[in-house]
Amino acid sequence: MLLWSLLLVLELFPAPGLTASPLQPIEGSSVTLSCNTRLPSDRATTQLRYSFFKDGHTLQSEWTSPKFTISAIWKEDSGNYWCEAMTASHSVLKRSHRSYIDVERIPVSQVSMEIQSPGNWGIEGQSLVLVCSVAKGTGLIMYSWHREDTKESVGRKSQHSQRAELEIAPVKESHAGGYYCTADNSYGLVQSAVVTVTVKVPVLDPVLSISVPGVLPFIGDVVELQCEDKRASPPVLYWFYHENITLGNTSAPSGGKGAFKLTLTAGHSGNYACEADNGWGRKRSEVVPLNVTEPPPKVRLVNGPHHCEGRVEVEQEGRWGTVCDDGWDMKDVAVVCRELGCGAAKHTPIAMLYPPVVDEALPVLIQVALCNGTEKTLAECDQVEPFDCGHDEDAGAVCEAVLPSTS
Ligand SMILES: *[C@@H]1O[C@H](CO)[C@@H](O)[C@H](O)[C@H]1NC(C)=O
Ligand SMILES: *[C@@H]1O[C@H](CO)[C@@H](O)[C@H](O)[C@H]1NC(C)=O
Ligand SMILES: *[C@@H]1O[C@H](CO)[C@@H](O)[C@H](O)[C@H]1NC(C)=O
Ligand SMILES: *[C@@H]1O[C@H](CO)[C@@H](O)[C@H](O)[C@H]1NC(C)=O
Repeated sequence: MLLWSLLLVLELFPAPGLTASPLQPIEGSSVTLSCNTRLPSDRATTQLRYSFFKDGHTLQSEWTSPKFTISAIWKEDSGNYWCEAMTASHSVLKRSHRSYIDVERIPVSQVSMEIQSPGNWGIEGQSLVLVCSVAKGTGLIMYSWHREDTKESVGRKSQHSQRAELEIAPVKESHAGGYYCTADNSYGLVQSAVVTVTVKVPVLDPVLSISVPGVLPFIGDVVELQCEDKRASPPVLYWFYHENITLGNTSAPSGGKGAFKLTLTAGHSGNYACEADNGWGRKRSEVVPLNVTEPPPKVRLVNGPHHCEGRVEVEQEGRWGTVCDDGWDMKDVAVVCRELGCGAAKHTPIAMLYPPVVDEALPVLIQVALCNGTEKTLAECDQVEPFDCGHDEDAGAVCEAVLPSTS
Protein backbone atom coordinates (compact mmCIF):
# COMPACT_ATOMS: atom_id res chain seq x y z
CA MET A 1 0.00 0.00 0.00
CA LEU A 2 2.79 2.47 0.96
CA LEU A 3 4.86 1.49 -2.07
CA TRP A 4 1.87 1.90 -4.37
CA SER A 5 1.10 5.38 -3.22
CA LEU A 6 4.79 6.38 -3.40
CA LEU A 7 4.98 5.24 -7.00
CA LEU A 8 1.86 7.17 -7.79
CA VAL A 9 3.28 10.34 -6.34
CA LEU A 10 6.68 9.92 -8.01
CA GLU A 11 4.96 9.93 -11.32
CA LEU A 12 2.86 12.96 -10.40
CA PHE A 13 4.82 15.38 -12.65
CA PRO A 14 7.92 15.26 -14.87
CA ALA A 15 11.20 17.01 -13.96
CA PRO A 16 10.96 20.73 -14.76
CA GLY A 17 12.96 22.56 -17.43
CA LEU A 18 14.53 25.95 -16.75
CA THR A 19 14.35 28.59 -19.45
CA ALA A 20 15.72 32.12 -19.30
CA SER A 21 14.31 35.06 -21.24
CA PRO A 22 16.28 36.58 -22.82
CA LEU A 23 18.81 33.78 -23.13
CA GLN A 24 21.81 36.10 -23.64
CA PRO A 25 20.99 39.19 -21.61
CA ILE A 26 22.99 42.41 -21.72
CA GLU A 27 24.21 43.73 -18.39
CA GLY A 28 21.70 45.83 -16.52
CA SER A 29 18.67 44.29 -18.21
CA SER A 30 16.14 42.06 -16.49
CA VAL A 31 15.94 38.31 -16.94
CA THR A 32 12.97 36.07 -16.23
CA LEU A 33 13.59 32.46 -15.26
CA SER A 34 10.76 30.00 -15.84
CA CYS A 35 10.58 26.61 -14.15
CA ASN A 36 8.28 24.64 -16.44
CA THR A 37 6.63 21.35 -15.64
CA ARG A 38 3.28 19.79 -16.42
CA LEU A 39 0.79 18.29 -13.97
CA PRO A 40 -1.45 15.54 -15.28
CA SER A 41 -4.91 16.82 -16.03
CA ASP A 42 -6.55 14.90 -13.16
CA ARG A 43 -4.15 16.58 -10.67
CA ALA A 44 -4.21 20.04 -12.22
CA THR A 45 -5.24 21.67 -8.95
CA THR A 46 -2.18 20.44 -7.02
CA GLN A 47 -0.18 23.39 -5.72
CA LEU A 48 3.52 23.27 -6.58
CA ARG A 49 6.37 25.31 -5.08
CA TYR A 50 9.41 26.42 -7.04
CA SER A 51 12.97 27.17 -5.96
CA PHE A 52 15.64 28.86 -8.09
CA PHE A 53 19.41 28.39 -7.76
CA LYS A 54 22.57 29.76 -9.24
CA ASP A 55 25.80 27.74 -8.90
CA GLY A 56 26.14 27.06 -5.18
CA HIS A 57 23.44 29.35 -3.78
CA THR A 58 19.71 29.79 -3.55
CA LEU A 59 18.12 32.73 -5.34
CA GLN A 60 14.57 32.05 -4.18
CA SER A 61 13.06 29.12 -2.35
CA GLU A 62 9.51 27.78 -2.30
CA TRP A 63 8.12 30.41 -4.62
CA THR A 64 4.45 29.97 -5.55
CA SER A 65 5.00 31.12 -9.12
CA PRO A 66 7.03 29.18 -11.72
CA LYS A 67 8.50 32.52 -12.92
CA PHE A 68 11.23 34.45 -11.15
CA THR A 69 12.57 37.78 -12.42
CA ILE A 70 16.01 39.18 -11.78
CA SER A 71 15.48 42.93 -12.26
CA ALA A 72 19.09 43.74 -13.28
CA ILE A 73 21.64 41.12 -14.16
CA TRP A 74 25.41 41.72 -14.27
CA LYS A 75 28.41 40.05 -15.84
CA GLU A 76 29.26 38.60 -12.45
CA ASP A 77 25.88 36.90 -12.47
CA SER A 78 26.86 34.70 -15.44
CA GLY A 79 26.72 31.02 -14.41
CA ASN A 80 24.66 27.85 -14.13
CA TYR A 81 21.06 28.26 -13.10
CA TRP A 82 18.55 25.58 -12.24
CA CYS A 83 15.23 25.17 -10.46
CA GLU A 84 13.27 22.72 -8.38
CA ALA A 85 9.56 22.04 -8.32
CA MET A 86 7.95 20.33 -5.36
CA THR A 87 4.61 19.62 -3.83
CA ALA A 88 3.51 21.76 -0.93
CA SER A 89 3.95 18.79 1.39
CA HIS A 90 7.55 18.31 0.14
CA SER A 91 6.69 14.70 -0.67
CA VAL A 92 7.75 15.05 -4.32
CA LEU A 93 10.69 17.21 -5.47
CA LYS A 94 12.08 17.36 -9.01
CA ARG A 95 15.12 19.26 -10.23
CA SER A 96 15.82 20.78 -13.67
CA HIS A 97 19.01 20.49 -15.67
CA ARG A 98 21.47 23.33 -15.37
CA SER A 99 21.26 26.16 -17.91
CA TYR A 100 24.19 28.47 -18.46
CA ILE A 101 23.30 32.16 -18.61
CA ASP A 102 26.00 34.27 -20.26
CA VAL A 103 25.57 37.96 -19.42
CA GLU A 104 27.05 40.23 -22.04
CA ARG A 105 29.10 43.26 -21.00
CA ILE A 106 29.46 46.23 -23.37
CA PRO A 107 32.85 47.94 -23.03
CA VAL A 108 32.84 51.65 -22.18
CA SER A 109 33.27 54.06 -25.07
CA GLN A 110 32.95 57.80 -25.77
CA VAL A 111 33.82 59.01 -22.31
CA SER A 112 33.14 62.69 -21.75
CA MET A 113 33.36 65.12 -18.88
CA GLU A 114 31.38 68.29 -18.25
CA ILE A 115 31.04 70.91 -15.58
CA GLN A 116 27.59 70.95 -14.04
CA SER A 117 27.26 74.61 -13.17
CA PRO A 118 25.70 77.57 -14.98
CA GLY A 119 28.32 79.40 -17.00
CA ASN A 120 30.68 76.42 -16.94
CA TRP A 121 32.80 77.70 -14.09
CA GLY A 122 33.34 77.21 -10.41
CA ILE A 123 32.43 79.93 -7.95
CA GLU A 124 34.72 80.31 -4.98
CA GLY A 125 33.07 79.07 -1.79
CA GLN A 126 30.33 77.18 -3.61
CA SER A 127 30.32 73.66 -4.99
CA LEU A 128 31.30 72.42 -8.41
CA VAL A 129 30.20 69.12 -9.93
CA LEU A 130 32.28 67.31 -12.56
CA VAL A 131 30.12 64.82 -14.44
CA CYS A 132 31.82 61.90 -16.14
CA SER A 133 29.67 59.93 -18.54
CA VAL A 134 29.96 57.16 -21.11
CA ALA A 135 27.88 56.88 -24.27
CA LYS A 136 28.11 53.10 -24.06
CA GLY A 137 29.21 50.67 -21.40
CA THR A 138 27.54 48.36 -18.94
CA GLY A 139 28.20 46.86 -15.58
CA LEU A 140 30.20 48.23 -12.74
CA ILE A 141 32.16 51.18 -14.16
CA MET A 142 35.12 52.61 -12.32
CA TYR A 143 35.20 56.40 -12.81
CA SER A 144 38.24 58.46 -11.95
CA TRP A 145 38.80 62.25 -12.19
CA HIS A 146 42.22 63.83 -12.70
CA ARG A 147 43.99 67.16 -12.91
CA GLU A 148 45.57 67.59 -16.31
CA ASP A 149 48.80 69.22 -15.08
CA THR A 150 49.76 66.68 -12.41
CA LYS A 151 47.67 63.67 -13.59
CA GLU A 152 46.85 63.41 -9.89
CA SER A 153 43.53 61.75 -9.09
CA VAL A 154 40.99 64.02 -7.46
CA GLY A 155 38.34 61.36 -6.94
CA ARG A 156 37.15 57.86 -7.83
CA LYS A 157 33.76 56.18 -7.88
CA SER A 158 32.48 52.73 -8.93
CA GLN A 159 28.92 52.77 -10.13
CA HIS A 160 26.46 50.60 -12.05
CA SER A 161 25.61 53.70 -14.07
CA GLN A 162 26.58 55.45 -17.30
CA ARG A 163 27.34 58.68 -15.45
CA ALA A 164 28.95 59.60 -12.17
CA GLU A 165 29.36 62.92 -10.39
CA LEU A 166 32.26 64.26 -8.41
CA GLU A 167 31.53 67.21 -6.17
CA ILE A 168 34.25 69.69 -5.26
CA ALA A 169 33.19 71.86 -2.33
CA PRO A 170 33.97 74.47 -1.34
CA VAL A 171 35.67 75.59 -4.56
CA LYS A 172 38.92 77.52 -4.10
CA GLU A 173 40.87 79.61 -6.59
CA SER A 174 43.52 76.87 -6.65
CA HIS A 175 40.99 74.48 -8.17
CA ALA A 176 41.22 76.28 -11.52
CA GLY A 177 42.84 74.22 -14.29
CA GLY A 178 42.31 71.42 -16.77
CA TYR A 179 40.54 68.21 -15.75
CA TYR A 180 39.68 64.94 -17.44
CA CYS A 181 38.03 61.70 -16.34
CA THR A 182 38.49 58.05 -17.17
CA ALA A 183 36.05 55.17 -17.17
CA ASP A 184 36.76 51.45 -17.11
CA ASN A 185 34.54 48.38 -16.86
CA SER A 186 37.46 45.93 -17.03
CA TYR A 187 37.99 46.09 -20.80
CA GLY A 188 40.58 48.88 -20.43
CA LEU A 189 40.62 52.52 -19.42
CA VAL A 190 38.98 55.14 -21.68
CA GLN A 191 39.81 58.81 -21.16
CA SER A 192 37.73 61.93 -21.80
CA ALA A 193 38.91 65.16 -23.39
CA VAL A 194 40.31 67.86 -21.08
CA VAL A 195 37.86 70.45 -19.74
CA THR A 196 39.11 73.72 -18.32
CA VAL A 197 37.66 74.76 -14.99
CA THR A 198 37.67 78.50 -14.37
CA VAL A 199 37.11 79.75 -10.84
CA LYS A 200 35.30 83.04 -10.34
CA VAL A 201 35.68 84.97 -7.12
CA PRO A 202 32.49 86.71 -5.94
CA VAL A 203 32.52 90.19 -4.47
CA LEU A 204 33.20 89.88 -0.78
CA ASP A 205 34.19 93.09 0.85
CA PRO A 206 34.22 96.31 -1.21
CA VAL A 207 36.11 99.21 0.33
CA LEU A 208 35.29 102.85 -0.36
CA SER A 209 37.93 105.54 -0.26
CA ILE A 210 37.54 109.24 -1.00
CA SER A 211 40.52 111.15 -2.30
CA VAL A 212 40.46 114.91 -1.80
CA PRO A 213 42.91 117.30 -3.51
CA GLY A 214 44.00 118.97 -0.29
CA VAL A 215 44.03 118.12 3.38
CA LEU A 216 40.32 118.76 3.86
CA PRO A 217 37.40 118.59 1.43
CA PHE A 218 36.28 122.13 0.57
CA ILE A 219 33.30 123.34 -1.40
CA GLY A 220 34.33 123.47 -5.06
CA ASP A 221 36.89 120.69 -4.76
CA VAL A 222 36.67 117.77 -7.14
CA VAL A 223 36.93 114.58 -5.13
CA GLU A 224 37.19 111.05 -6.41
CA LEU A 225 35.28 108.19 -4.82
CA GLN A 226 36.98 104.87 -5.37
CA CYS A 227 35.44 101.51 -4.67
CA GLU A 228 37.46 98.34 -4.75
CA ASP A 229 37.04 94.68 -3.98
CA LYS A 230 40.58 93.36 -4.34
CA ARG A 231 39.86 89.75 -5.27
CA ALA A 232 36.54 89.91 -7.14
CA SER A 233 36.65 88.47 -10.67
CA PRO A 234 35.97 91.01 -13.42
CA PRO A 235 33.86 92.54 -14.71
CA VAL A 236 32.71 94.34 -11.58
CA LEU A 237 29.97 96.94 -11.50
CA TYR A 238 30.25 99.59 -8.79
CA TRP A 239 27.57 101.92 -7.40
CA PHE A 240 28.22 105.01 -5.29
CA TYR A 241 25.85 106.34 -2.65
CA HIS A 242 25.50 109.53 -0.65
CA GLU A 243 23.07 109.02 2.26
CA ASN A 244 21.64 106.02 0.37
CA ILE A 245 20.90 108.08 -2.75
CA THR A 246 22.61 106.73 -5.86
CA LEU A 247 25.21 109.13 -7.24
CA GLY A 248 26.09 106.89 -10.17
CA ASN A 249 27.67 103.67 -11.27
CA THR A 250 30.79 102.65 -13.09
CA SER A 251 32.07 99.36 -14.36
CA ALA A 252 35.54 97.89 -14.12
CA PRO A 253 35.57 95.54 -17.11
CA SER A 254 38.95 94.07 -16.28
CA GLY A 255 38.68 94.27 -12.51
CA GLY A 256 40.26 96.67 -10.07
CA LYS A 257 38.78 99.91 -8.83
CA GLY A 258 35.69 101.77 -9.89
CA ALA A 259 35.99 105.54 -9.66
CA PHE A 260 33.46 108.33 -9.58
CA LYS A 261 34.19 112.08 -9.59
CA LEU A 262 32.17 114.61 -7.63
CA THR A 263 32.38 118.41 -7.45
CA LEU A 264 31.61 119.26 -3.84
CA THR A 265 28.85 121.57 -2.75
CA ALA A 266 27.79 122.29 0.84
CA GLY A 267 25.09 119.58 0.50
CA HIS A 268 27.69 116.90 -0.08
CA SER A 269 28.55 116.49 3.59
CA GLY A 270 27.41 113.17 5.03
CA ASN A 271 27.90 109.46 4.71
CA TYR A 272 29.12 107.73 1.59
CA ALA A 273 29.08 104.06 0.69
CA CYS A 274 29.60 101.96 -2.39
CA GLU A 275 28.36 98.62 -3.64
CA ALA A 276 30.03 96.10 -5.90
CA ASP A 277 28.57 93.25 -7.91
CA ASN A 278 30.12 90.82 -10.36
CA GLY A 279 27.14 88.55 -10.73
CA TRP A 280 27.09 86.55 -7.52
CA GLY A 281 25.51 88.92 -5.05
CA ARG A 282 25.88 92.63 -4.41
CA LYS A 283 27.91 93.70 -1.39
CA ARG A 284 28.01 97.08 0.34
CA SER A 285 31.05 98.80 1.79
CA GLU A 286 31.39 100.35 5.20
CA VAL A 287 30.25 103.95 5.44
CA VAL A 288 32.79 106.76 4.93
CA PRO A 289 31.81 110.18 6.32
CA LEU A 290 32.77 113.37 4.52
CA ASN A 291 32.61 116.82 6.10
CA VAL A 292 32.59 119.45 3.38
CA THR A 293 33.60 122.90 4.65
CA GLU A 294 33.88 126.40 3.23
CA PRO A 295 37.26 126.94 1.63
CA PRO A 296 39.60 129.07 3.73
CA PRO A 297 39.70 132.75 2.74
CA LYS A 298 41.81 133.73 -0.22
CA VAL A 299 42.16 137.22 1.12
CA ARG A 300 43.00 138.68 4.56
CA LEU A 301 43.73 142.03 6.14
CA VAL A 302 46.95 142.00 8.13
CA ASN A 303 48.37 144.15 10.99
CA GLY A 304 45.24 146.27 11.35
CA PRO A 305 43.42 146.80 14.64
CA HIS A 306 40.88 144.13 13.72
CA HIS A 307 39.72 141.61 11.08
CA CYS A 308 38.24 144.26 8.79
CA GLU A 309 41.22 146.63 8.41
CA GLY A 310 44.87 146.25 7.42
CA ARG A 311 47.28 145.38 4.63
CA VAL A 312 45.63 143.32 1.86
CA GLU A 313 47.12 139.88 1.40
CA VAL A 314 45.89 137.28 -1.09
CA GLU A 315 46.56 133.60 -1.52
CA GLN A 316 47.35 132.04 -4.85
CA GLU A 317 48.22 128.40 -5.23
CA GLY A 318 48.95 128.01 -1.56
CA ARG A 319 51.24 131.05 -1.07
CA TRP A 320 50.39 134.40 0.36
CA GLY A 321 51.46 137.72 -1.11
CA THR A 322 50.46 141.39 -1.35
CA VAL A 323 48.52 143.56 -3.83
CA CYS A 324 50.08 146.62 -5.52
CA ASP A 325 48.16 149.89 -5.06
CA ASP A 326 48.27 150.75 -8.78
CA GLY A 327 44.65 151.68 -9.57
CA TRP A 328 43.54 150.45 -6.09
CA ASP A 329 40.13 152.07 -5.52
CA MET A 330 36.90 151.84 -3.52
CA LYS A 331 35.45 149.24 -5.93
CA ASP A 332 38.36 146.92 -5.18
CA VAL A 333 38.04 147.52 -1.43
CA ALA A 334 34.29 146.87 -1.67
CA VAL A 335 34.98 143.41 -3.06
CA VAL A 336 37.56 142.66 -0.34
CA CYS A 337 35.15 143.83 2.39
CA ARG A 338 32.34 141.73 0.91
CA GLU A 339 34.54 138.67 0.68
CA LEU A 340 35.56 139.02 4.33
CA GLY A 341 32.01 139.63 5.56
CA CYS A 342 33.08 143.09 6.72
CA GLY A 343 30.29 145.21 5.22
CA ALA A 344 30.85 148.18 2.93
CA ALA A 345 34.14 149.77 1.87
CA LYS A 346 35.37 152.77 3.84
CA HIS A 347 38.94 153.75 2.77
CA THR A 348 41.74 152.75 0.45
CA PRO A 349 44.76 153.26 2.72
CA ILE A 350 48.33 152.43 1.80
CA ALA A 351 49.75 149.36 3.56
CA MET A 352 52.60 151.49 5.06
CA LEU A 353 50.03 152.48 7.69
CA TYR A 354 50.14 148.94 9.03
CA PRO A 355 53.75 148.26 10.05
CA PRO A 356 55.89 146.33 10.22
CA VAL A 357 56.63 146.30 6.50
CA VAL A 358 56.19 143.00 4.74
CA ASP A 359 58.97 140.45 4.68
CA GLU A 360 60.82 140.81 1.37
CA ALA A 361 60.36 137.10 0.70
CA LEU A 362 56.59 137.58 0.34
CA PRO A 363 55.70 138.09 -3.34
CA VAL A 364 53.52 140.82 -4.82
CA LEU A 365 50.75 138.81 -6.48
CA ILE A 366 48.47 141.42 -8.11
CA GLN A 367 49.68 144.60 -9.85
CA VAL A 368 46.24 145.97 -10.73
CA ALA A 369 42.86 144.61 -9.59
CA LEU A 370 40.18 145.55 -12.11
CA CYS A 371 37.06 144.98 -9.99
CA ASN A 372 33.74 146.47 -11.07
CA GLY A 373 32.61 146.32 -7.43
CA THR A 374 29.93 143.66 -7.69
CA GLU A 375 32.18 140.57 -7.55
CA LYS A 376 31.85 138.23 -4.59
CA THR A 377 35.60 137.66 -4.26
CA LEU A 378 38.77 139.44 -5.30
CA ALA A 379 39.72 136.33 -7.28
CA GLU A 380 36.77 137.02 -9.63
CA CYS A 381 38.14 140.43 -10.65
CA ASP A 382 40.30 140.77 -13.74
CA GLN A 383 43.89 141.19 -12.70
CA VAL A 384 47.15 142.40 -14.12
CA GLU A 385 50.17 140.27 -13.23
CA PRO A 386 52.77 142.22 -11.21
CA PHE A 387 55.84 143.48 -13.10
CA ASP A 388 57.46 146.39 -11.25
CA CYS A 389 55.76 146.76 -7.87
CA GLY A 390 57.67 146.80 -4.60
CA HIS A 391 56.32 146.32 -1.11
CA ASP A 392 56.41 150.13 -0.56
CA GLU A 393 53.40 150.24 -2.91
CA ASP A 394 51.35 147.56 -1.11
CA ALA A 395 47.62 148.25 -0.82
CA GLY A 396 45.48 148.35 2.34
CA ALA A 397 41.74 148.34 3.08
CA VAL A 398 39.34 149.66 5.69
CA CYS A 399 35.79 148.33 5.86
CA GLU A 400 32.85 149.63 7.82
CA ALA A 401 32.46 146.57 10.09
CA VAL A 402 34.66 146.12 13.14
CA LEU A 403 35.12 142.39 13.69
CA PRO A 404 37.60 140.68 15.98
CA SER A 405 40.54 139.04 14.25
CA THR A 406 39.95 135.39 13.47
CA SER A 407 43.54 134.24 13.86
C1 LIG B 1 21.11 103.43 4.44
O1 LIG B 1 20.95 102.07 4.15
C2 LIG B 1 21.41 101.22 5.18
C3 LIG B 1 21.32 99.82 4.69
O2 LIG B 1 20.41 99.67 3.66
C4 LIG B 1 20.58 101.46 6.44
O3 LIG B 1 21.07 100.65 7.48
C5 LIG B 1 20.71 102.91 6.83
O4 LIG B 1 19.89 103.18 7.93
C6 LIG B 1 20.33 103.82 5.67
N1 LIG B 1 20.63 105.19 6.03
C7 LIG B 1 19.85 106.20 5.69
C8 LIG B 1 20.31 107.55 6.11
O5 LIG B 1 18.79 106.04 5.09
C1 LIG C 1 24.24 103.17 -14.37
O1 LIG C 1 24.04 104.55 -14.51
C2 LIG C 1 23.38 104.91 -15.72
C3 LIG C 1 23.31 106.43 -15.74
O2 LIG C 1 24.57 106.97 -15.52
C4 LIG C 1 21.99 104.34 -15.72
O3 LIG C 1 21.36 104.62 -16.93
C5 LIG C 1 22.10 102.83 -15.59
O4 LIG C 1 20.81 102.29 -15.47
C6 LIG C 1 22.89 102.47 -14.35
N1 LIG C 1 23.08 101.05 -14.37
C7 LIG C 1 22.81 100.29 -13.30
C8 LIG C 1 23.02 98.86 -13.49
O5 LIG C 1 22.43 100.75 -12.23
C1 LIG D 1 32.60 119.59 10.09
O1 LIG D 1 33.61 120.57 10.17
C2 LIG D 1 33.23 121.71 10.88
C3 LIG D 1 34.35 122.74 10.75
O2 LIG D 1 35.60 122.14 10.99
C4 LIG D 1 32.93 121.34 12.33
O3 LIG D 1 32.53 122.47 13.04
C5 LIG D 1 31.84 120.30 12.33
O4 LIG D 1 31.61 119.86 13.64
C6 LIG D 1 32.21 119.13 11.47
N1 LIG D 1 31.08 118.24 11.37
C7 LIG D 1 31.22 116.94 11.49
C8 LIG D 1 29.95 116.17 11.33
O5 LIG D 1 32.30 116.41 11.71
C1 LIG E 1 31.37 142.75 -12.95
O1 LIG E 1 32.24 141.62 -13.11
C2 LIG E 1 31.58 140.39 -12.96
C3 LIG E 1 32.63 139.30 -12.99
O2 LIG E 1 33.50 139.47 -14.04
C4 LIG E 1 30.56 140.26 -14.08
O3 LIG E 1 29.85 139.05 -13.93
C5 LIG E 1 29.58 141.40 -14.00
O4 LIG E 1 28.70 141.35 -15.09
C6 LIG E 1 30.31 142.72 -14.01
N1 LIG E 1 29.37 143.75 -13.74
C7 LIG E 1 29.38 144.91 -14.37
C8 LIG E 1 28.38 145.92 -13.92
O5 LIG E 1 30.22 145.15 -15.24
